[in-house]
Amino acid sequence: MDAPVDFLSHDSVAPQAVAELLDSCFGPARHRRTAALLRSGAPRIEPASFVALDGEQLVGSVEAWRLDWQHPRGSRPIALLGPLVSHPTRRGERIGARLMDLALAELDKLHLPVMLIGDAPYYARWGFSAKHTGEWVLPGPVDRDRLLLRFPAGHRLRGPASFAPAAGADSAAA
Ligand SMILES: CC(C)(COP(=O)(O)OP(=O)(O)OC[C@H]1O[C@@H](n2cnc3c(N)ncnc32)[C@H](O)[C@@H]1OP(=O)(O)O)[C@@H](O)C(=O)NCCC(=O)NCCS
Repeated sequence: MDAPVDFLSHDSVAPQAVAELLDSCFGPARHRRTAALLRSGAPRIEPASFVALDGEQLVGSVEAWRLDWQHPRGSRPIALLGPLVSHPTRRGERIGARLMDLALAELDKLHLPVMLIGDAPYYARWGFSAKHTGEWVLPGPVDRDRLLLRFPAGHRLRGPASFAPAAGADSAAA
């Protein structure tokens, strides 16, 4: 049964509370990870970023960011999802799954392909795979099996592309 948790827009909580949860799960080195380098300077997609609260306690968070996928033949918008986190004492309560469902529902409304760096066995249930990401060029080391893409029809995004923060407003809807 799903935990009695409220799912709210990400700006419902202080950024410091999210930072503390992320620090406790990923450690301070999280700022040097390839996903963090990709997110740096990118506008957050507010409608697709959520927190999970049990009362006043933060028990989960997911964020989405707007990047440009830059191929020699042209650029396409893409969403970078993450970090996704649930509180260490609340794992297995579907908090992570519900955050994913909410974020992806919003990103699908925007018809955005979605990339993330994470464990394929967890994310495959939402259609993520490393099948088309092998030639992507990233700003740091990455385990290729963990570089995952989920794409709407016609958005396969295969090839030697790199990434840049999308310019402009803080919402992919803009
Ligand atoms: C990954 C994470 C968000 C999942 O959150 P959660 O709230 O426990 O997830 P859910 O309750 O929705 O799903 C739990 C299920 O996923 C499985 N699962 C969790 N992490 C997994 C992983 N890395 N690989 C494969 N399966 C995984 C669990 O075994 C469980 O399976 P079950 O439903 O068959 O019992 C959480 O474990 C976490 O915060 N981990 C640390 C941060 C992290 O690695 N984030 C992802 C990278 S950004």
